[in-house]
Amino acid sequence: MKRFFLIIAFLTSVNAQDITTLEPIGTVVRVEKTEQSVTLHCRDNSQVRLTILAPDLIRVRAAFGKSIPTKDHSWAIAKENWPAPRWNLNETPDSITITTDELEVAVRRSPLLVEFRDARTHQLLNADERPMSYDAHGRLASMMFDPKAGTFVAASKKLGFDEHFYGLGEKAARLDKRRSSFVNWNSDTPGYTDKTDPIYQTIPFYIGLQRGIAYGIFFDNSYRSYFDFGKSSQQRAWFGAEGGEMNYYFFHGPSIKKILGRYADLTGHMQLPPLWALGNQQSRWSYYPDTMVEEVVSEYRKRDLPLDVVYLDIDYMNGYRVFTFDKTRFPDPKGLTDKLARQGVKVVTIVDPGVKHQPNEKGYHAFDDGLEKNFFQRRRNGDLFVPRVWPGDSVFVDFTLPDARRWWGDLHRFYTDNGIAGIWNDMNEPSDFVDQTGKNQLDVVSYDEGEKSTHAKNRNTFALLMARATYEGLERLQPDRRPYVITRAAYAGIQRYSTMWTGDTNSTWEALALNIPMFTSLGLSGEPFVGSDIGGFIGRGNGELLVRSYQVGFLAPFCRNHKQIDGYDQEPWRFGKYYEDIIRKYLKLRYALLPFLYTTLEEAHRTGVPLFRPLLLNYQNDPNTYNLDDQFMIGDDLLLAPILKPDVTRRLVYLPAGVWYDYWTGKQYTGGTMISVDAPLDVAPMFVRGGAIIPVGPMLNYVGEKPSDTIGFVIYPDEAGAASGDLYEDDGVSPAYKSGAFRRTSFSSRRTARGFTVSIGAAQGTYNPGPRKFNFAVKAAGRTGRGVSAVDNGKSREVQLK
Ligand code: GLC
Repeated sequence: MKRFFLIIAFLTSVNAQDITTLEPIGTVVRVEKTEQSVTLHCRDNSQVRLTILAPDLIRVRAAFGKSIPTKDHSWAIAKENWPAPRWNLNETPDSITITTDELEVAVRRSPLLVEFRDARTHQLLNADERPMSYDAHGRLASMMFDPKAGTFVAASKKLGFDEHFYGLGEKAARLDKRRSSFVNWNSDTPGYTDKTDPIYQTIPFYIGLQRGIAYGIFFDNSYRSYFDFGKSSQQRAWFGAEGGEMNYYFFHGPSIKKILGRYADLTGHMQLPPLWALGNQQSRWSYYPDTMVEEVVSEYRKRDLPLDVVYLDIDYMNGYRVFTFDKTRFPDPKGLTDKLARQGVKVVTIVDPGVKHQPNEKGYHAFDDGLEKNFFQRRRNGDLFVPRVWPGDSVFVDFTLPDARRWWGDLHRFYTDNGIAGIWNDMNEPSDFVDQTGKNQLDVVSYDEGEKSTHAKNRNTFALLMARATYEGLERLQPDRRPYVITRAAYAGIQRYSTMWTGDTNSTWEALALNIPMFTSLGLSGEPFVGSDIGGFIGRGNGELLVRSYQVGFLAPFCRNHKQIDGYDQEPWRFGKYYEDIIRKYLKLRYALLPFLYTTLEEAHRTGVPLFRPLLLNYQNDPNTYNLDDQFMIGDDLLLAPILKPDVTRRLVYLPAGVWYDYWTGKQYTGGTMISVDAPLDVAPMFVRGGAIIPVGPMLNYVGEKPSDTIGFVIYPDEAGAASGDLYEDDGVSPAYKSGAFRRTSFSSRRTARGFTVSIGAAQGTYNPGPRKFNFAVKAAGRTGRGVSAVDNGKSREVQLK
């Protein structure tokens, strides 16, 4: 028995890297200052460089036992050059202190410890628990995935007694990551459940929150990485990687929203997808032949269910060859997309990274051409790397080669010529059926800006570069249209190129409940456009689960029902009229709310603050929200508390301080408390913040079906009778919004002796939406008041409501 426990203890210690055995960086012997950075020279020849990028953004880069290399490249970073902010340096015999308008970074010389404080309050934000360290003696080598590829590097921070941790991208875990640890190694993990780790994506960025004050850390290192938020020891929160540099960015809040804005500046802002991407989407592995696709769309139309997009999964291809159509199943792809376009439906096709490689096959242009150009990945000995994926033996493109990215992007002409509206990148971890862990790929070399590095460094960025090739290709092929790309795997920065979905979930209640912390965490990690297979991907669902799943997904940016090939059919009507009628109600509500959703999506593009939010993002000073992961908000104004369990028709809902309106009944509540609400199957408890003005559009079967000649505004007054809101509009398809072709209108309303006065602000931007009316109505005392209309002339004015 004792031996058994010893073995268990040994196994767990092997899994959890003991960073206390690592070699600490040497003490500081010399300090060198440049215009924007301070380089610390250490006794052991190590170097640490602190670069002041902005008053609230400091980069920390260390090289152990050597100088910091001049080569400095990351696929994640969008903005490399930052204008030097105001800062100064103060040296004492014990320490070096950098001060900006917002941050104070103090470095103790011996031992070398970095500490971040708020420059105004001197409050400690984050401090090293031990010096940055590295595996000088190979002590962790035996537990490394590829010991030959690098040296383990780590940084360790003091763990606050009441510190909460958020972000880290796509993790099958709770919202608050305190007392958990994670690995980043993009992995194909069908049927993952709570705590499966790693899964598909790597976003090595987290936010710490203590006493309402937040900081952020982005550890920009693409090697297999580890984050431990006080799991292995209550002393520390540490992060490390099996190679590469100690290289992290420190963000000062104090607000999380501000950190997300800076993170977006650094790694790129999400570009607006076409507006139809917010429409309802339907998928199946796989709809074929073409007549079945038409049938799906015609069912949608017949049943008065809105639909914008239908997906073609792998069976549309000729033997799973990307950039081909199966001639029998889809004899006339252009004819099909034209026909569906007339019904307002777009087609998105899957494009996996595996290019089929059949010995002696001649004439498959994607393989022949890529081989001739030498764009495919090879092993160190020069052999082609041949993974096995859906097509069988295949090859992968080396997307680190700029010419290969261009070539791959250009190949998408095949799709755009056939009227395909968007591209779905899957299996891009990259998945390899020969060995899913990646061991079979260790000696695969990528060009990597001339570094010719191996899989250990390139696995986690493979999907980012594939999505980039796709996005840039679509941009070149159709410069007047916004690209629409969706990906499964990712690395930080992916928001510049792609939307995402959370892969192969189960059709279970547990998987449904995970949607909320996963979507909110992705939003706190710079990825705003997220969603999950509605109804779940694997297994046999049921009508109740499907309805409850729509009650979460109908407000997620990406709203798509998708199902595995051998799973039970789950289009909205498959379980009968009772369920279908409820689903219709939610899909229609989504379309009515499109003006609100699009306004919130544009905010995510501009500010980095996601639409699908945990409550703590809006109520950062309210500790009741810090680990609330069965409720969420859309923007500032809608609060949802869906049912996530079978046979449940009532639940508790936490409402933060302020006035709240039950969306369905209009009943008013005073927040700062828990309430208990009824939630029969047709009700997803939903509340509107008092103080909001929610824009609503006309009933549509698809985006752009008819002009929005009347936009409604529902006013929900706060305790003082005031409310405000915005409406963002543009053409919804072209990139012209980037050069000012949008229209932003602000609204505010106040209670007066005579009723309500609404002030319409002067429209900003050059986009002209055409003639139309605004229709205002006040929600009060459980009902919506009589509406008053005003012709929109783009000018600032006031409207009186009774
Ligand atoms: C993967 C995807 C899934 C898709 C299937 C076939 O499992 O995650 O969405 O349907 O491959 O392409």
